[in-house]
Amino acid sequence: MARNSNPRRLVTAALPYANGPIHIGHLVEYLQADFWVRWNKMNARDCVYICADDTHGTPIMVKARELGLTPEAWIAKSHAEHARDFADFGVNFDIYSSTNSRENRELSEHFYAALRDKGHLRTRTQEQLWCDHDRMFLPDRFVKGVCPKCGAVDQYGDSCDKCGSTYAASELKTPACAICGSKPALKPTSVISVKLSDFRDFLRDWVPAHSPAEAANKLSEWIKGELLDWDISRDAPYFGFEIPDHAGKFFYVWLTAPIGYVSATRQLCEQRGLNFEDYWSRGEDEIYHFIGKDIIKFHCLFWPAMLKTAGFKTPTQVFVHGMLTVNGEKMSKSKGTSITARTYLNHLDPQFLRYYYATKLTSGMSDLDLGLDDFVNRVNSELVGKITNLGSRGAQMLAKRLDGRMGRLDPDGRALLARAQARRGTIAAAYEARDFARAIQEIRDIADEANKYFDEKAPWNLIKTDAEATRAVLSTTLNVFRLLAIALKPVLPRYADQVARLLGEASYTWRDGEAVIEGGQVGEYEHLATRVDAEKVQAMVEASKPAGSTTQTPTTSPQAGHTAPSTASASTGATGVIDIDTFGKIDLRIAKIIAAEAVPEADKLIKLRVDLGPLGERQIFAGIKSAYDPAQLVGRLTVVVANLAPRKMKFGMSEGMVLAASDPNESGGAKPMFLLSPDSGAKPGDRVK
Ligand code: MSP
Ligand code: ZN
Repeated sequence: MARNSNPRRLVTAALPYANGPIHIGHLVEYLQADFWVRWNKMNARDCVYICADDTHGTPIMVKARELGLTPEAWIAKSHAEHARDFADFGVNFDIYSSTNSRENRELSEHFYAALRDKGHLRTRTQEQLWCDHDRMFLPDRFVKGVCPKCGAVDQYGDSCDKCGSTYAASELKTPACAICGSKPALKPTSVISVKLSDFRDFLRDWVPAHSPAEAANKLSEWIKGELLDWDISRDAPYFGFEIPDHAGKFFYVWLTAPIGYVSATRQLCEQRGLNFEDYWSRGEDEIYHFIGKDIIKFHCLFWPAMLKTAGFKTPTQVFVHGMLTVNGEKMSKSKGTSITARTYLNHLDPQFLRYYYATKLTSGMSDLDLGLDDFVNRVNSELVGKITNLGSRGAQMLAKRLDGRMGRLDPDGRALLARAQARRGTIAAAYEARDFARAIQEIRDIADEANKYFDEKAPWNLIKTDAEATRAVLSTTLNVFRLLAIALKPVLPRYADQVARLLGEASYTWRDGEAVIEGGQVGEYEHLATRVDAEKVQAMVEASKPAGSTTQTPTTSPQAGHTAPSTASASTGATGVIDIDTFGKIDLRIAKIIAAEAVPEADKLIKLRVDLGPLGERQIFAGIKSAYDPAQLVGRLTVVVANLAPRKMKFGMSEGMVLAASDPNESGGAKPMFLLSPDSGAKPGDRVK
């Protein structure tokens, strides 16, 4: 059978965890894959882009519990938010599913049965850390303690941030449960695992042909090494799918996650009447995974072994990208560089980030940096200054002075356009190879040449003496601009569509770039891209800092306690206005005061014990002694800030802030204070917003 020269392509991006928002680091991947999918589609290639939320695991269960929600309600909320973020960034998935679906359960059971029936599983007993208070085994990331190697405090159960060593959670000195702080104990349990060493020969052949050469060393080290068993079961309580023949045991999140690629494809095929088997079981259709370098092991070792065992095709290629840094460093909450997709969108045009990432993305695995000043400069000088200016100058002058009618090109213009067209092959090859930086470089070079032509022809002078010659110059300029818009379409689809409308054409395909348009009416010029304002970037960074980090004035006075400041001026920014993101960071909750006692050594403080419902109990010191008798407070409901960083005070920890009203103009010892109370019906833990 002859090979199809134009096989269909199935493209996936890694499934983001449902327990947090999409951030600009994630977007490197979703945009990179989106560029490539759009490139394929614009070439009339049958291509589908598959993704889903990764919904299982302990962190999601714990987070939902913290929020007082069921895991199902929490993942539904995340799903809606993620889908909206992606849509607003122009990430065009053919399906955005969830790993918590019926199809994914069925397929997970199928994969599991295949591994079991072919003898690749074994069960053994293992000692794991158990929290008796939370009644659960603690994953590594839920144990904190002192690093056994270097003695650094407050390290996770898998590795030390300070010295970089890795260890088992049980090796931590003074381990503590990250949820409740109590000391976990070792407890035996049985664990089901995959004998990865069964796949050594298969992987030795498979890996070099399907993984990036840059990852080859690491991967072959793994394959030659121990190939330790891979644990695929977790004990209840766990949010996920229960293992059919093992009540109380669940499939580990990394088992059900990649199967999500397959189950989402199945759903898409059902929706569109496509043939699922062609994609995953047989046929020449190609499968490409885009992933970050942190999850290579899952995609290049475990996943092909699972697919092979369950009788599915393995991916054609796994494409691996590096990690995003911002201003040369890891994203940081305190520096305001851990920017969520939504915060970005609240301040800036998504096309700018698409453009900027494209200028940085190659097919390699090296990390890429978002330099915020560089971002402003490049968007302004390249996208706006070089590229967009061609279109706006060309179209506006033609409309104003020459009835908006395009004409024939002059010989210089024709030669310029021919040179630009000749570069399309290089651009196409760069897109196909996912070397977006190279594609943009070519596009920029063409724009430079066209700007030079425009300036040399000086149509603003020419128009005084020769209208038709001017029409030729502007028509040339618009033809080159059109070619640039077509070449940019995978990266800037909305922009390309606006240009098509301006020139009275249908949405572009790649081949449309071969044409020369002479004659025809130019439509109304819509703004394509306006300059980025550095102040908006700064505002986005400020909005990404933890609530209060810019305004919190550290006070050393034990008298202050944890009550709201009595004047508003300290808590509002320079303008006195905060945006909704900033407000949204404050977690206000209804609390029930269950105990209250005056602190004898402090003349303003009352020590409160409050119940926050699902969030548990807290101790808070409140500076309300002058206005309240402790006995009168017990049993009443009030409002507290639940996510304020705990503060160590002379008399103990204060783990929140009680809200009380007072007149900013009053001062002194016995000033009147009024605790807030909810209307009846509110319960401890309810959110106030
Ligand atoms: N849920 C798993 C993937 C399961 S795929 C079967 C996961 N989720 S994640 O939300 O942590 O990451 C999703 C993707 O985003 C990963 O490919 C990861 O590499 C990528 N990125 C997350 N943070 C990133 C940066 N800071 N920079 C670049 N990519 C990043 O892993
Ligand atoms: Zn605990």
